[in-house]
Amino acid sequence: MSKVFLDDPNLGNLEKKYLTRAIDSNFVSTVGPFIPEFEEKFTHYIGTERAISTQSGTAALHMALYQLGIGEGDEVIVPSLTFIATINPVLFVKAKPLIVDVDPITWNIDPQEIKKAITEKTKAIIPVHLYGSVCNIEEVIEIARENNLYVIEDATESLGATYKGRQTGTFGDFGCFSFNGNKLITTGGGGMIVSNNQKKAEHIKFLVNQARDASKGYYHPEVGFNYRMTNIEASLGLAQLERIDNFLKKKRNFRKIYQEIFNDLPYIKFQEEFDNSSGSWWLTCIKVDKNNIDIDNLMLKLKNKGIPTRRIFMPASEMPYLKKFSKPCPNAYEIYNYGICLPSSTLNEEEDIRKTALIIRELL
Ligand SMILES: Cc1ncc(COP(=O)(O)O)c(C=O)c1O
Repeated sequence: MSKVFLDDPNLGNLEKKYLTRAIDSNFVSTVGPFIPEFEEKFTHYIGTERAISTQSGTAALHMALYQLGIGEGDEVIVPSLTFIATINPVLFVKAKPLIVDVDPITWNIDPQEIKKAITEKTKAIIPVHLYGSVCNIEEVIEIARENNLYVIEDATESLGATYKGRQTGTFGDFGCFSFNGNKLITTGGGGMIVSNNQKKAEHIKFLVNQARDASKGYYHPEVGFNYRMTNIEASLGLAQLERIDNFLKKKRNFRKIYQEIFNDLPYIKFQEEFDNSSGSWWLTCIKVDKNNIDIDNLMLKLKNKGIPTRRIFMPASEMPYLKKFSKPCPNAYEIYNYGICLPSSTLNEEEDIRKTALIIRELL
């Protein structure tokens, strides 16, 4: 069997061509033509009014909270099952995260838990579309409207996923994306923040550039950040964006193959698709409902057979500095204890995934 890839990036001749152009132009830093071009094409792909490139997905989330004026004394509701970068920016702005449990079927934030957690200090919700699976965004938006809360979508893992035909990241006040090396498309490291509010978006464009008013030289009317993407990164992003349809097709097909091959195994449960949505399936993940299955041991056995896997994110309440902010999250723990992410990189071919699934099946 050829080498199997978990979440490795897929870079080729187009990326080399655009990268060479960036180097040849000598625009390698935060000024250069690829940056506005990438922002414009990303805006068009996503369907919002504006997209602002950033240094990372974490920076995008930080800027969203900061621009909305969320700070000390405020609370922000977040899911327990996510990468830590969803929650840390809440602490960057000195607000308090309220960590709630996820739905056992979609593994995404449970709207009922959001309702229970809201207090008079709550200012925002950060729903995450985990592993490219769409959360119950309609209900999250409704709860936010009823309670006068902001919504910042953490769409860092769900580029290309849609709900009722509309891209994730476009429902809230802001949507945040990541182009880290393992994501659907990569710029090496980078992010994007999207919004339909031009004024707020332009303010973020200004904030990420040291809040510089260039019309007055080196004049900075407020505190700013250096959270810009580079022209080199944007050149990669443009090439990757041209290939996104093919990447998505592959990811969705890989999940179908796993589903076909595990179809008659009742103890394998997939992270399920929410109604009316189409997941991007950045990573296909399963939960093994078998008596006392030891996930680390299973991963080791798979590794010895050349199959790389990764564990589900550890529930946020396991982090010593976050424990005090967490509600009980039994579903997040259940998924963490028995879940696993399967090889999903677009470097794989259909045949590799088929063989991988058969080996996992045999081992189980
Ligand atoms: C759910 C989630 N939120 C935020 C981030 C942060 O993105 P970045 O690594 O680009 O800072 C990531 C990805 O790494 C993520 O998976």
